[in-house]
Amino acid sequence: MAHRITLIPGDGIGPEVASAVVRIIEASGVQIEWETHLAGQQALEKLGVTLPDELIESIKRNKVGLKGPITTPVGKGFTSVNVGLRKALDLYANLRPIRALPNIPCRNPNLDLVIVRENTESLYSGIEHEVVPGVIESLKIITEKASTMIARFAFEFAKSEERKKITCTHKANIMKMSDGLFLSCFHKVATEYPDIQAEDKIIDNACMQLVMRPEQFDVLLCENLYGDIVSDLCAGLIGGLGLVPGANIGEKSAVFEAVHGSAPDIAGKGIANPTALLQSAILMLRHIDERAAADLVETAMLTVFAEGKVRTGDIGGTATTDEFAEAIIAKMN
Ligand code: NAI
Repeated sequence: MAHRITLIPGDGIGPEVASAVVRIIEASGVQIEWETHLAGQQALEKLGVTLPDELIESIKRNKVGLKGPITTPVGKGFTSVNVGLRKALDLYANLRPIRALPNIPCRNPNLDLVIVRENTESLYSGIEHEVVPGVIESLKIITEKASTMIARFAFEFAKSEERKKITCTHKANIMKMSDGLFLSCFHKVATEYPDIQAEDKIIDNACMQLVMRPEQFDVLLCENLYGDIVSDLCAGLIGGLGLVPGANIGEKSAVFEAVHGSAPDIAGKGIANPTALLQSAILMLRHIDERAAADLVETAMLTVFAEGKVRTGDIGGTATTDEFAEAIIAKMN
């Protein structure tokens, strides 16, 4: 039976990379019926809102979405579509696997770690107000419930992926109550998983260690703000945002997404790199239990990288988006 999946091609280069990824995924033989929806700039122009209700309903119904980049219009009154989606669907866990790709220059070719980021709280609660003119207060919210849920998610993920160690990052030496609570929830949940090593590191030290010796990490657990920053730092270790996948996961649904932006400077030219969205789609295939198709697409993609002949401009090649997609499809036949 075909899977029904909500597709949000997004803005800028989004439709170009989404169409390449859909072609590659369909070439693997997996049966998917795509329900395509607008969000962001295009939705604003055509429907008057950046996050249409029909889109939320579609993901709720299908339980899985694949999302390209969304332009966040600058100015007051526009909340980020990405943050809106996470809130509307309660996608409390963000996953960012970081694995070096063959032939992409990086200092740590054996790097293979996963960042698990709490997606709903911390300074992203968006509770800000002006105390008096010239003084703004922004509240960092950390709850026992969300901290326990994300810690349990990290341990369950580590268990299912046979990963050995989780490092919880924090700044509990300064934010003794908020980060202290996040850290204590982590250590409490850790007692239920004696086979997985649990350690913690202060976030600034963790960042230095990530630059100097990233191979020591296996799973990194972060509250929202630290996770956002560390995720991009780690993407930089293996070649940048055009390559890494991302997923937002909740109890009832999951949205797999490219983490780069809509790249207005190259949109419409057919030269964008679809790797980030493709890797997100591979994660999605595993999530819907299409593991054979995921392995087939991943092996074909890794072979094209290893051969190094067909690559897009952002990683030093001259191939178009379509040529790169066709090269991967050719490896699956
Ligand atoms: P960006 O990621 O769109 O672009 C930064 C640079 O990376 C540009 O030079 C671009 O050409 C290049 N780049 C990005 N993805 C690429 C790809 N797949 N292939 C080849 N080159 C690629 O970041 P920027 O310019 O800060 O943001 C542009 C728009 O995207 C903004 O409206 C921003 O709000 C939005 N954005 C959306 C995100 C999302 O939906 N997850 C994440 C980041 C930004």
